[in-house]
Amino acid sequence: MKPRVFSGVQPSGSLHIGNYLGALKNWVTIQDDYECIYCIVDLHAITVYQDPAELRAGIERLAALFLAVGIDPAKSSIMVQSSVSGHAELAWMLTCVTPVGWLERMTQYKDKAARQKTVGDGLLQYPVLMAADILLYQAQIVPVGEDQVQHLELTRDIAQRFNSLYGETFVVPETKLPTVGARIMGLDDPETKMSKSATGAYHAIYLLDPPEMIRKKIMRAKTDTQPAVDFDHLGPGVANLLTIFQAFTEWPDEKVRRHFAGKRYGETKKEVAEAVIAGLEPIQQRYRKISADRAYVADVLDRCAARIRPIAEETVQLVKKRMGLYTRA
Ligand code: TYM
Repeated sequence: MKPRVFSGVQPSGSLHIGNYLGALKNWVTIQDDYECIYCIVDLHAITVYQDPAELRAGIERLAALFLAVGIDPAKSSIMVQSSVSGHAELAWMLTCVTPVGWLERMTQYKDKAARQKTVGDGLLQYPVLMAADILLYQAQIVPVGEDQVQHLELTRDIAQRFNSLYGETFVVPETKLPTVGARIMGLDDPETKMSKSATGAYHAIYLLDPPEMIRKKIMRAKTDTQPAVDFDHLGPGVANLLTIFQAFTEWPDEKVRRHFAGKRYGETKKEVAEAVIAGLEPIQQRYRKISADRAYVADVLDRCAARIRPIAEETVQLVKKRMGLYTRA
C-alpha cells in the first residue's frame, strides 16, 4: 500500500504563488507515489469572519484550481473539510488532550489574534483542527510550506500525547517541505512572507493574475541599491525573485547562478516574469475550462468524499473506543 499524504488550503482569499510553490506544485508531483488527500479547509477559514457568499464561491473556485494545477481525481482525493463530519468530531476529542499552553505559543495564533478586535475560540483551536485533519486519515506525510512547520510539530505532539494516554492509535506524521520555494516572500516587502491577507497591490502574484499584471508586479518588486545580481551579496528581494524563478523552471542551483551572475536587475526581472507567466498560463487555461463546468467540480467533490469517508469513520470509531466513549459493541 502507498503511504498516505494529507494537506490542505484555506478557501479564503485568492491563491498566490507562495501557496503554489510552497504546497500545491509539490502535491501534484507526489501523487503517483502516494495515496493523497487534498482538502479545502473551510472550517479553518471561519476561525475569522468570512462573508458567507464569498466563502461559498471561494470553495468552488479552489476546487477548480486544485484540478487546474494538475491534481488528478483518479489518483488523489479532493475534498471539502466540512463535508466529512469526522474532522470536527476528532478535533473535539483532541482538544481534550491538548494543553492550552501549547496553543497559546503558536506564532500564527499570536499574529492573527493581534489583528482581531475579538478573538474567537476557534482561532486558538485552529491547530487542533489541523491535527484532526491529518490524524483522521492516519497520514504519514504532510507536504506544506515553511509557515506550517510549527503546526505540524504540534500535530506530532498531540498524536504522541494521545498515544501515550490511550495506547497506540495515531500515526505520527512527517512534514515535507519543497526543496525550493518553502517560503516565498512578499514582492513589496521581502522581509515578510507572501500572504493572502496582505493588502499591498504589489505584494503577491495570484494564480489567476493576467500576464500583464504579473509583469507589472515583478518589475516593481523591491530589490536593493546594487545594479546587478551578485551572489556574494544577495539581498532578500533579489534572492526571492531568483527562488521564484528556480521553483518555476526547476533549474539546478548551478545553472541559476551561471545564468544570473552579473545580470542587471531590470533584465533579471523580465526573465523572472516570463518564467512565472509560462508556469501559470497552462493552469489558467485549464481553470477557465474547469470552472465553467460547476457540475463536474461538484461531482468530483462528492465522489472523493464518498471514497475517503470510510477511512475517517474508522478512525473516529477507534478513537471513541480508546477513550471509552459510547460505540455499539
Ligand atoms: P494556507 O491556506 O495558509 O496555505 C496553504 C499552503 O501554502 C503554503 N504557503 C506558503 N508556502 C511558501 N511561501 C509562502 N509565502 C506561503 N504561504 C502559504 C502553506 O504552508 C500551506 O502549505 N493551516 C493551513 C491549512 C491546513 C492544513 C491542514 C495544511 C488545514 N489543515 C492539514 C496541512 C495539513 C493553512 O492555513 O494553509
